[in-house]
Amino acid sequence: MNKLRSHLIGFTLVVGLISTQSLFAETDNNSVLDGYEIFNHFCFLCHGKDGKGHGPLANKLPVSPANLANSDRVGRQTDRELFRTIQGTAPHGTVSATMPRWGLAIPESQIHSLVDYIRFLHNAKFPQIGDPRLGKLVYEDHCTVCHGDNGEGAGMLTYVIGMNPADHTDSERMESLPNEYLFRIIRDGSIDNSLMPGWKGILTPNEIENVIAYIRLLAY
Ligand code: HEC
Ligand code: HEC
Repeated sequence: MNKLRSHLIGFTLVVGLISTQSLFAETDNNSVLDGYEIFNHFCFLCHGKDGKGHGPLANKLPVSPANLANSDRVGRQTDRELFRTIQGTAPHGTVSATMPRWGLAIPESQIHSLVDYIRFLHNAKFPQIGDPRLGKLVYEDHCTVCHGDNGEGAGMLTYVIGMNPADHTDSERMESLPNEYLFRIIRDGSIDNSLMPGWKGILTPNEIENVIAYIRLLAY
């Protein structure tokens, strides 16, 4: 019986790992978006969707989950240290045992993506109002042609028409722009005579929120 049980546990672990791999194998080279997905899979239970520590499991734990969005410790840690905290290989006593050691369940490349996403959560001034995975589809359909694949503002059309699309990878600028401003310029277009078109009637308000959530990640 014990043997059967240990086999079953081994089996579940292996299946768990394989399905985790295939779940994320399809994802793209956008590390922080991968981080978003993995975070919402494994971490939100305790840390909450916004990383502030109020996930559905939080009040059942002996130690409160860290507020990743506002933690001095996160701010002080280098990427390498944050990586090791998540992996579970940080020096003893860095975090309590209530924080799982993820090195066994999550491959290193995905832990790197989590570090990128935690940097985003930690620096973000404005709340995420949409789903960036859906926003990526909107962005690829309608925005890359001017803003470029990675949001740096050098899309194909900039080679044939003189214009300066905004650079969404400029994190300082992006963190200075409230969601309302982004919503308005995407819906109505720019008010000066630049070429930023308005998307009212083409994109639903929901799609605009999703694309805002996506372009906010491009800066990390
Ligand atoms: C079962 C609940 C639980 C889950 C799930 C969980 N954590 Fe945690 N985490 C905690 C707790 C509790 C702490 C605080 C530990 C302490 O203060 O000693 C913590 C702390 C941390 C810290 C340290 C923050 C700091 O201030 O130094 C990081 C980084 C972190 N978690 C990342 C993650 C990531 C990434 C995931 C998902 C892969 C995750 N956690 C999933 C419970 C959890
Ligand atoms: C025809 C080219 C073009 C397309 C297509 C386009 N943009 Fe723009 N976008 C621009 C230009 C040019 C600017 C700079 C406007 C300015 O400086 O007033 C801009 C500015 C912006 C800004 C303002 C950012 C800031 O820093 O002030 C946002 C947000 C934005 N675009 C989002 C989008 C989104 C989302 C899409 C797709 C739904 C999109 N754009 C499609 C050309 C384009």
